[in-house]
Amino acid sequence: METVKFTAMKDGDREDYAFLTEHETEFAAKTGERLLDALVKLDQGLSGYKITRLGHSLQAATRAWRDGADIDWIVSALLHDIGDIYAPYNHDEYAAAILKPFIREQCTWVVEKHGDFQRLYYAHHVGGNQHARDKFAGHAYYDDCDLFCERWDQTSFDPDYDTLPIEFFAPFALEVFARKAYDPAVIRAGVRVPLTDPETAKQRSGASA
Ligand SMILES: [Fe+2]
Ligand SMILES: [Fe+2]
Repeated sequence: METVKFTAMKDGDREDYAFLTEHETEFAAKTGERLLDALVKLDQGLSGYKITRLGHSLQAATRAWRDGADIDWIVSALLHDIGDIYAPYNHDEYAAAILKPFIREQCTWVVEKHGDFQRLYYAHHVGGNQHARDKFAGHAYYDDCDLFCERWDQTSFDPDYDTLPIEFFAPFALEVFARKAYDPAVIRAGVRVPLTDPETAKQRSGASA
């Protein structure tokens, strides 16, 4: 069997759908690889900043890693702007949708809202609302998003920063996207893990990277 027998979905049988499920599983397993390729493509977009979008993503992930952040945070920092490619007007929601089945709820929320939180740093210069984030006041993950933007996102446009390469972060991304989708043990609804861990940060600063 190379393809299904049907031309309209309602005519498919058990054999057809078993065949498709196999294909889908194989395709899904390569999600991490495809995302890393897409991240590299971000580099081709003209941004006007001093560094490329890829450089920004790697720098944000590097800062997260150096802060002692866990793998969910590191991958969130790495992919938080992946939506820029196809969704320039809601890139945060787009990135969150990609990450949602594979990372902690806390991180998905932060990625989804980071666009509004980032406005604090520039919206007043373009006649916009700096305080778009206020509508989330009191939310359990509000402070996490504030810190994500302050420490990792708005700072990561520096061409002189010692940014780690994509090869360093690829294993983190591949591990996350190899997880079982929507596994409650991964999503950990309501759990807050700090973005920074001074002890881990210290160990990592002792490593060559
Ligand atoms: Fe962004
Ligand atoms: Fe960003």
